[in-house]
Amino acid sequence: MKRVDDFRLKFGQKEYVPIMIGGMGVDISTAELALEAARLGGIGHISDAMVNDVSDRRFDTSFVKDKTKQYKHNILNADKSEVKFDLDILAEATRRHVGATMEAKKGDGLVFVNCMEKLTMNGPRETLQVRMASALDAGIDGITLSAGLHLGSFGLIADHPRFRDAKLGIIVSSVRALQLFLRKNARLNRLPDFVVVEGPLAGGHLGFGLDWAQYDLATIIAEVIKYVADEQLNIPVIAAGGIFTGTDAVSFLETGSAAVQVATRFTVADECGLPTAVKQDYFRANEDDIVVNTISPTGYPMRMLKGSPAIGDGIRPNCESYGYLLDGNGNCAYITAYNRELALHPDGKNISVQDKTCLCTQMRNFKLWTCGHYTYRLKDTTRRNDDGTYQTLSAEHIFKDYQFSVDHQVALPV
Ligand SMILES: Cc1cc2nc3c(=O)[nH]c(=O)nc-3n(C[C@H](O)[C@H](O)[C@H](O)COP(=O)(O)O)c2cc1C
Repeated sequence: MKRVDDFRLKFGQKEYVPIMIGGMGVDISTAELALEAARLGGIGHISDAMVNDVSDRRFDTSFVKDKTKQYKHNILNADKSEVKFDLDILAEATRRHVGATMEAKKGDGLVFVNCMEKLTMNGPRETLQVRMASALDAGIDGITLSAGLHLGSFGLIADHPRFRDAKLGIIVSSVRALQLFLRKNARLNRLPDFVVVEGPLAGGHLGFGLDWAQYDLATIIAEVIKYVADEQLNIPVIAAGGIFTGTDAVSFLETGSAAVQVATRFTVADECGLPTAVKQDYFRANEDDIVVNTISPTGYPMRMLKGSPAIGDGIRPNCESYGYLLDGNGNCAYITAYNRELALHPDGKNISVQDKTCLCTQMRNFKLWTCGHYTYRLKDTTRRNDDGTYQTLSAEHIFKDYQFSVDHQVALPV
């Protein structure tokens, strides 16, 4: 019987343990978590979501406070079009976050940054360009583009000296999305170094509609692998979404996937950025506590615990401080929903917004508990303490369980 360790992910001449820990914003896949994956010979991700805020928390900068001050006059204004990100500050925040991570890197693995393109930051092109270029400047091993894949993204960094040496990958949920991307990028003569195919059981935003349950990762992966082979493209295809045990992973590796990307199991790792109490909510979750809804202003369905405090919360939009979802013209679906409710309750009290959430603020404060479909199985991966709480696990324990387990077994902590 095979185990994950019998396989290797190859990038050129180099080989890696074929386990990639997926990006989880905002700072849920911390540097500490990503560094463990790299130390153990696999691939970890940090995320550049709300990187100014991450920099403030990690490096004691005051980027968010300064932005709030700059745009204070606009807080009660429904029009957010003037609230822009300073590109130099964005570059500095990215370089700090990525640079500190890369300096601490040990071992033979890699650390990538997850870049969600739906974070349009009221200036989609220029902010994305700065995010990617600054991450490359700071020595990131690779960039994974996700959520809202903009077909021209590679072109934004085509002039960067590291454009051809850094690993660049994309996340897709269909063979069609991959075809479109490749067609659009043909003129750059630069293929993605890897393609993550994310199925409907993943955490975070989904590349499917509310009919997600009709899709199946194994089927989509088979289509992508066939397409890549038919076109004689040499691109490793990486399976993601609902791969819960080493045996699940082996089933993908045996059928042509080059690696797996996993995340949910690591949400209860000691190194994961979720607050300790929230990790217990993830452990306690039952299957019917996990919902897919449309409250994310990105327009993509998102999976989360139905007890997330963000759901229904009607806080005032915080775009002067954050504004990561502003589309370039000062719009975000939450602002529209909030203003609709405000018109009904002009005193501004007891406002509840059910259909959308202020994603920046809620993710920043860990009040929106996005999770994978199999979160309800996390309780089976650990032991219970005398007080009824569950033991969190080291990232190394979870990584090695994926790497060495057989027969759908999950090793409990000692
Ligand atoms: C808490 C959480 C947050 C996530 N955030 C992001 C994100 O910011 N960007 C992204 O591309 N994917 C995100 N994902 C998706 C993962 O990177 C990964 O592809 C997927 O969850 C793998 O499936 P699994 O969780 O069943 O192992 C997130 C997943 C989880 C569980």
